[in-house]
Amino acid sequence: MGRPHQRLFVHALYLLLTVAIGGAHAAPSTSDGRHLYEPCVVCHQPNAWGTPDGAIPNLAGQQKRYLEKQFAVFRSGARVDTAMQIVAAHQAFGNQHDIAALASYLSGLDPNPSPAQGAGQHLRVGQELYAHICAACHGIDGRGEPANRVPRIAGQHYPYLRRQIEAAANLHKDLAPPEMTSALRGMRPQEKDALADYISRLGDSNALLDSNRPGAGNYEAPDSR
Ligand code: HEC
Ligand code: HEC
Repeated sequence: MGRPHQRLFVHALYLLLTVAIGGAHAAPSTSDGRHLYEPCVVCHQPNAWGTPDGAIPNLAGQQKRYLEKQFAVFRSGARVDTAMQIVAAHQAFGNQHDIAALASYLSGLDPNPSPAQGAGQHLRVGQELYAHICAACHGIDGRGEPANRVPRIAGQHYPYLRRQIEAAANLHKDLAPPEMTSALRGMRPQEKDALADYISRLGDSNALLDSNRPGAGNYEAPDSR
């Protein structure tokens, strides 16, 4: 956090949050999720669909408890991202009630119907990997699981998913059995592409049809090497 441009960014973001939320002494209408979402729009977009370049994830339709937990982990520093750590550390979000209101608002929004997708060339590989390793927790439809804080991943932008899948062995290390995290570590780049591509299309009913295309994937199971 030492470089001057980063300090400038921190100050600008802090100012933005303070203006948008109204500072520490704001009027007490803060448990309104829509109002609380205002300072997020600049990055996450008005409909909370994030950006297709994958820099900013979709939040619309995300599981409420997962959203609440992410606020806590950005705040504690367990999840590292400069922008989100500043947002989560802002005094306006010190109150659990407000975080819950914000999370409810976001989870009630309609997910992005047309997220950025991958090249579409190995969807069958993606489908097989997904069904074998991921569906048990994230659900066959990728909608996640409210009670266990498993996030919705269906319809998330491909580049964001690709990045998170790269980090998946770490991301899942406290949640999944060691066999799974080592399988994730050993996954080939092309398999990661296929998985991210398939997941980005999970909201779209054509994804499964497409995977039946002849020659859609010349897939060799990872354990057959
Ligand atoms: C300056 C830009 C910026 C602002 C403002 C911002 N965010 Fe973010 N947000 C990001 C970035 C970048 C990420 C992705 C971090 C990563 O890649 O790990 C992110 C990620 C998140 C995530 C994690 C999503 C997931 O799927 O794991 C949540 C939740 C979130 N933001 C909520 C919010 C909320 C609510 C606000 C407003 C109070 C907000 N953000 C404001 C940039 C921003
Ligand atoms: C044992 C259950 C489990 C399995 C199996 C599992 N996940 Fe997850 N996954 C989770 C949980 C829980 C989280 C949320 C972690 C957190 O709270 O930080 C998560 C987080 C993620 C995220 C981050 C979402 C975001 O918005 O940033 C991605 C992407 C993801 N999983 C993809 C996968 C893929 C792909 C597979 C299969 C290769 C998989 N997961 C298998 C439980 C699981």
